[in-house]
Amino acid sequence: MSEVKNVLVLGAGQMGSGIAQVSLMAGYNVSLVDIKQEFVDKGASGIEKGLKKLESKGKLGEGVTADNLMAKLTKSISLEDAVKSADIVIEAVVERMDIKKQVCKTVMDNGPDHVIFASNTSTMSITEIGKDSGAPERVCGMHFFNPVALMRCIEVIRSDDTSDETFETAMAVAETLPCLRGARYIAPVLKEGPGFIVNRMNAPVNIYIGWVFDTAKEKGLDWAQIDADAGGKMPMGPCELADYVGLDTMIHTMNYYKETLSEDFEPPQVVKDMVENGNLGAKTEQGFYDWSQGREGIKAKVKAAEPAGLFNLEKSMAIMLNEGCRILDEGIASGYKIIDDANMAGMNSPGPFGWGKKNFEKAAQILEELADETGKDYFRPIELMKSGGFKKMRK
Ligand SMILES: NC(=O)c1ccc[n+]([C@@H]2O[C@H](COP(=O)([O-])OP(=O)(O)OC[C@H]3O[C@@H](n4cnc5c(N)ncnc54)[C@H](O)[C@@H]3O)[C@@H](O)[C@H]2O)c1
Repeated sequence: MSEVKNVLVLGAGQMGSGIAQVSLMAGYNVSLVDIKQEFVDKGASGIEKGLKKLESKGKLGEGVTADNLMAKLTKSISLEDAVKSADIVIEAVVERMDIKKQVCKTVMDNGPDHVIFASNTSTMSITEIGKDSGAPERVCGMHFFNPVALMRCIEVIRSDDTSDETFETAMAVAETLPCLRGARYIAPVLKEGPGFIVNRMNAPVNIYIGWVFDTAKEKGLDWAQIDADAGGKMPMGPCELADYVGLDTMIHTMNYYKETLSEDFEPPQVVKDMVENGNLGAKTEQGFYDWSQGREGIKAKVKAAEPAGLFNLEKSMAIMLNEGCRILDEGIASGYKIIDDANMAGMNSPGPFGWGKKNFEKAAQILEELADETGKDYFRPIELMKSGGFKKMRK
């Protein structure tokens, strides 16, 4: 495992700034690199603000000040130069394969012989990013959750070419990065696949939610009735949550899984219609709900609504259990404890296996019925789930 002192964070946007901040807090020398001075300056001033706030709350630790930490941050708009002294590059540039491949090659062409390139991509193949870089064995994934300082999970991903040494070093660096909301949790992802662990396991719940949306429309139900089905067991019901995340984002994400996993991820017609009319949810103040008066009115509406009896949380859990078993079956994670822990650390909500260990037979029945009812075969339980065989794969 190589020693890491100098971290280069490439891309000073939302994720890059967060990664640079926690890297400074871990004690590394950090170089923040973007394509324009104004982007680097904006990123750096956000980091400084964040650190000052933590200092004022006494959260930086004994004798540590924001100024001390900021003194370890250098800014650059030349990756070629900045990478010369880097031990690891954590990449958080825009989600475009051509750009990711290009910066990866620049890092390998200009960096020291031991430099590691860790990509924070959400959707792209790490193997592809590293393939033409000249050193694919030193490329891996390091997938953070937003906001970086608050979400405990980091998934460290092996590509087809990642060496053991690269993987171990990336795991070790990830372990050192502090989190403001409890202990960091690092999930080793042994093989790449769409959505890695956490996003993948949650993805097919959207097939179900999409079906609920379209069925509710057909039946003339009120959206608040669907959210009332969640019965206060979720911080937001599915309609409110979809609005909050962005209806365009929901379509984009489902289309990605439609391409990479199954046709059954076809986005719901109701949401496609809203997006076509420019209603993207909270950000345009109109989606399932009118957001112009804030969230309070929506909450009151849901509270007053008669539940529709259409959306059922147990079905979501069964879907996640099946997907978690696919993740085990495909060798992406070695055990279900990692999957449950990663879900808690990345989504702040329990994974399905605690429930599933006792309820897998019931879950299999729920899923068969759901597949029949919706016509979505992706819901059919896989053998590892139906048989309870996953119970032997704890670690
Ligand atoms: N936002 C999230 O919730 C989230 C979560 C996990 C992973 N990600 C991934 O993190 C990456 C960054 O996302 P973001 O939300 O921070 O985006 P962002 O748009 O806020 O920031 C991207 C930054 O990259 C810079 N950039 C573009 N080309 C560059 C280049 N060639 N060299 C250096 N910098 C360059 C841009 O100027 C911008 O500052 C993406 O791959 C995204 O998929 C995002």
